Amino acid sequence: MVHVSQDEQKRAAGRAAIAYVTPGTVIGVGTGSTVAPFIEALGEMPERIAGAVSSSERSTAALLALGIPVLDANTVEGLELYVDGADEVDPRGYLIKGGGGALTREKIVAALADRFICIADGSKRVDVLGGFPLPVEVIPMAEAAVTRRFAAGVLGTAGEARLRRTADGSPYVTDNGQHILDVHGLRISDPLAFESAVNDWPGVVTVGVFAHQKASICLLGTPEGVQTLTF
Ligand code: A5P
Repeated sequence: MVHVSQDEQKRAAGRAAIAYVTPGTVIGVGTGSTVAPFIEALGEMPERIAGAVSSSERSTAALLALGIPVLDANTVEGLELYVDGADEVDPRGYLIKGGGGALTREKIVAALADRFICIADGSKRVDVLGGFPLPVEVIPMAEAAVTRRFAAGVLGTAGEARLRRTADGSPYVTDNGQHILDVHGLRISDPLAFESAVNDWPGVVTVGVFAHQKASICLLGTPEGVQTLTF
């Protein structure tokens, strides 16, 4: 069998998403290493998109470098499409996102879109969400309380929340000026109920379970080519 690296799978999935983009429209653009080749392909479209609503400073810089206008989310009423990666994809199209730290803006843009095209390499496919530590953006004042709640358990699953840190040991700060807890050891069997429950906790800005804003389609890079999963 031909070896296809994870990077090649990401690249194939990212570039495949261009088939869903209508020239002249404004689309939502996510963040990450699978989105990077998608942005590159946007720059190569013979008829360009009118603009993009971006989920991070990183993607905004990449879009602007290609001459693609970036719009404020407040200036659009809705988007036809949102394209973004994921850290885990379950069989129903429910996702874990936020490995790159952009989960809050990602959820805001996903909620504006009619369709969410998820692009990922084959390693992201799981039966049950939670193997990837769940990112939760929190107001720093609530870190200890939220950590205790995860340790006590929610909907039959408990986890250990660890504050995300940068290489120099200081807390990672999101584009929104908040912190991220990465919660290890969860097994999320009911993502819709889990997302709602954690959203209710004081001090939680965004939980990285995307169940209410799940994927409509997942383009999954595999050694055999890009698979299209429709949910
Ligand atoms: C960014 O915050 C994340 O939600 C990304 O979508 C996710 O981490 C996937 O990233 P890669 O495409 O780099 O694997």
